[in-house]
Amino acid sequence: NQIDPFDFVIFGATGDLTMRKLLPAFLRRFHAQEFTEEARLVCVARTALTPEKFRQQTRNALKEFAAETAKDTALLDRFLELITYIPLDALAPDGDWGPLQAELNEPSRTRVYYLATAPALYGPICAALSRSALITPQTRVVLEKPIGVDLKSATEINDGVGQFFPEDAIYRIDHYLGKEGVQNLLALRFANPILEKLWSSDAIAHVEITAAETVGVGTRGSYYDESGALRDMVQNHLLQVLCMLAMDAPASLSGDDLRNEKLKVLNALRPMTPDMVRQNVIRGQYSAGRIDDQKVGSYTDDLGRDRASNTETFVAIRTKIRTARWGNTPFYLRTGKRMAAKSTEIVLQFRPQVWSIFSNTPSPGRLVIRIAPEEGLSLVLAAKDPGVGGFRVRNADLSMSNRQQFKVTYHDSYERLLLDAVRGNPALFIRRDEVEASWRWIEPILTSWREAQSPLEPYPAGSWGPASTRALLARDGALWHEDM
Ligand code: BG6
Repeated sequence: NQIDPFDFVIFGATGDLTMRKLLPAFLRRFHAQEFTEEARLVCVARTALTPEKFRQQTRNALKEFAAETAKDTALLDRFLELITYIPLDALAPDGDWGPLQAELNEPSRTRVYYLATAPALYGPICAALSRSALITPQTRVVLEKPIGVDLKSATEINDGVGQFFPEDAIYRIDHYLGKEGVQNLLALRFANPILEKLWSSDAIAHVEITAAETVGVGTRGSYYDESGALRDMVQNHLLQVLCMLAMDAPASLSGDDLRNEKLKVLNALRPMTPDMVRQNVIRGQYSAGRIDDQKVGSYTDDLGRDRASNTETFVAIRTKIRTARWGNTPFYLRTGKRMAAKSTEIVLQFRPQVWSIFSNTPSPGRLVIRIAPEEGLSLVLAAKDPGVGGFRVRNADLSMSNRQQFKVTYHDSYERLLLDAVRGNPALFIRRDEVEASWRWIEPILTSWREAQSPLEPYPAGSWGPASTRALLARDGALWHEDM
């Protein structure tokens, strides 16, 4: 089902995200014939470039970031025809919005503004769009993360945009919700009654949610050093995964039903007091080490400066969800750069047997949901250790790889999300109250770190984080997955 012709306008179009993610995603969807040549991709940024020059840059980027699809040069040529470039300083009082008005000359079309600029510009850009009469009833706006750096700034951004767009036209993107593995949580939980029966503190001793990366901060140091892992990954991606994992069944998959249930999880998170932060949150920063047998430098080396930084590149958090379903199960969240492996996964550790008739007790079993690098599941159970002497039990693994099972090509999460925004399906975007509830929970951690000057614990690049990360689970008699 092909989408009707639409106008998609990207602000901040010369940035990394547009070249690495947005335009490659559109190229692949164009290749899949999800929309036709009548669609227009209008790229806006401050840099003075001609459309030809911008298309040339885009061509190079697509050859790198959508290499397979871009090999078809006829297709690539046709795709580049959809793109125009308009140089515009959206904040300049004398900025000329005329060329954009001239380009967007079909008010009845679906129109999407994608704001990939600094978040502080979201409100002012929306104000300028409104002044220039560029907002039609068919217009939506997509906001990239981060929505603010704390609750106050998030509220200001939401207010700023909300003056010009109704909430149902505001699409806050979190690319984790575009991942197959994250969406699959809905199928796994709500299409498998046998699993849903296990989904509570009755059966689950603890839950781990890990998003570990081997990459360092790369060229994003100036952004990252202001942000840190808690704002960059936990406030958005990890909390969204937690919501999808822990929420009750929504009445339907429609936008508000799903988001109402996620919001309940965020509101049920045990609030962080300063004491709680000291005992349940670990912040780390990578020092030099080895990854894949290569020597890599420390975080400050990567920033390219002499003075030390106080920014965390690793966080681990122990929390609880105050509901009848989950009240007795600790949830551990952790994320970091320069860790031992690229791995995004969820582990649900089952409770041990109350009494065993066997002479040895293997681990009580667990369900591992892998999201990256490969989507899949693994259910670890106990089985008889084969052999004739005695009777011992040991763990056996029932594994499924989604890729092998379904034999399909997996898409980048932006492919799904961009076209959902064009189609007007908000289910996988974040509602205002969710963003604000996330910040409400995160903010005391930030404050407490600032006020109590929480120590930043070093961890060698290529490890699983600071040594104290183990102790966080040991308190509950638990082990991280890689230690099992
Ligand atoms: C982004 C963060 O939102 O997510 C990056 O800003 C991080 O720092 C990235 O590397 C991780 O995404 P993924 O899809 O590779 O897990």
